[in-house]
Amino acid sequence: MALSQSGATRDHWSSRSAFILAAVGSAVGLGNLWRFPAEAGANGGGAFVLFYIACVLLIGLPILLSETLIGRHGQSAAPESVRRVASASRASPRWDILAGIGVLAAFMILSFYCVVGGWVLYYIGVFIGDIFTSGVVGGAFANQSPEAIEALLPNLFANGPMMVGMNFVFLVVTLYFVARGVSGGIEIVANYMMPAFFILLVAITVYGAFGGAFGQTLDYLFTFEPEKLTGPVMLAALGQAFFSLSLGVAGMITYGGYVGRNVNLAGTSAIIASADTVVALLAGLCLFPIVIAAGLAVGAGPGLMFQTLPHAFQEMPFGSVVGLLFFVMVGFAALTSSVALLEVPTAWIIDRFRIVRPLSAIIVAAGAMVLGALAALSFNVLSDWHPLNFIPVFEGQGFFDVLDGLTAKFLMPIGAILTAIFVGWIADRKLIDMENGLGGALHLFWLFLVRFLCPIALVGILVVGIFPDLFG
Ligand code: PHE
Repeated sequence: MALSQSGATRDHWSSRSAFILAAVGSAVGLGNLWRFPAEAGANGGGAFVLFYIACVLLIGLPILLSETLIGRHGQSAAPESVRRVASASRASPRWDILAGIGVLAAFMILSFYCVVGGWVLYYIGVFIGDIFTSGVVGGAFANQSPEAIEALLPNLFANGPMMVGMNFVFLVVTLYFVARGVSGGIEIVANYMMPAFFILLVAITVYGAFGGAFGQTLDYLFTFEPEKLTGPVMLAALGQAFFSLSLGVAGMITYGGYVGRNVNLAGTSAIIASADTVVALLAGLCLFPIVIAAGLAVGAGPGLMFQTLPHAFQEMPFGSVVGLLFFVMVGFAALTSSVALLEVPTAWIIDRFRIVRPLSAIIVAAGAMVLGALAALSFNVLSDWHPLNFIPVFEGQGFFDVLDGLTAKFLMPIGAILTAIFVGWIADRKLIDMENGLGGALHLFWLFLVRFLCPIALVGILVVGIFPDLFG
């Protein structure tokens, strides 16, 4: 297994397509299904969506290629991979800090991601139960008031033991696949769940398309109104692109570490970024027609998927079954992402402390469970605990929001800025040229983006994260 420093006996993806599926699995998750439609809805639709696509192409994709390139060259856990590229470039090994930040960020995101994974499990349970009470053919939540449906989420939030329990179950399932290794576990989950996910997503989208409001949704998501493209909307789009592509947390460095020499990284990265973007757009096309057709508000933000959407299933024939399938699909997507998040610190522990994989994964998961429980309880018994109250941007925030804010506003942008500088300016050009699989003008364009546009745009996110009032 992955204990050899030489890389020769390291576990690898069994094929290029296995890598693509696993990387797409990492990228496609709650970020696409829950966060993207919520952000698009809250930020005015078309302007956000089109700017988002530009961010993926011009900033996300170049960084994605940079990360996989470091990993593939290094053939190790993320920090060691960075050190190997640094040493081949006669640069300081301390550049490994960029991966160190990533490992920490992945661990923190894992902790709160599995809390939300737990909400998804809870909703799966709700819809299974509802099939028995409302029946299969009619709508979901028969005879229940809109208020009762809305209250599902706050009721869950008020229930500390349920939140922690569901968080635990989700984390244990994640742990199971990571403990089994790269080709024997991570790959398996992606191989089965990603295709199942795609089928469900397309099926529910087609179903929603016949429900009425498809044309309105297209208008809403793709009509570009320049006046809506404000500073905060642009930054929200850039941050979302980063989160959705799993960048800045050393995740793609880690997954790149299991990629064989013969794989063309540029082409593969383009496939991963396209798949992730297509899924985000499909998620919008899936959710909004259902929400709009039911006459509900599109700008509900985080509540869109968990509070607004369930209403819509009430009106729908076979509502409980469609609702169940919807949340199963979300669960699959979330699981392949949480697997990636757990893998990043696990791979580091295996490399650094020479501890076997199952134990390494258990150690990380145990830590994430402690943080996760605190995050889950910050919705109820710990709601008065504001751990970083002394820092203005975190004032009044509970532990869940602090974990989210610290990673999205600070650790991820810093990790990505350092990655861009390292690959663009520090690493040996020959090594970079050899690994990236790009040629000619495209290569120069990529280099330009990594050297200039990416760091500048990312510094923008960072500055606004620290000084949120900058845009007034
Ligand atoms: N990209 C994942 C999503 O959209 C989240 C994630 C971030 C996964 C970072 C791995 C690493 O849900």
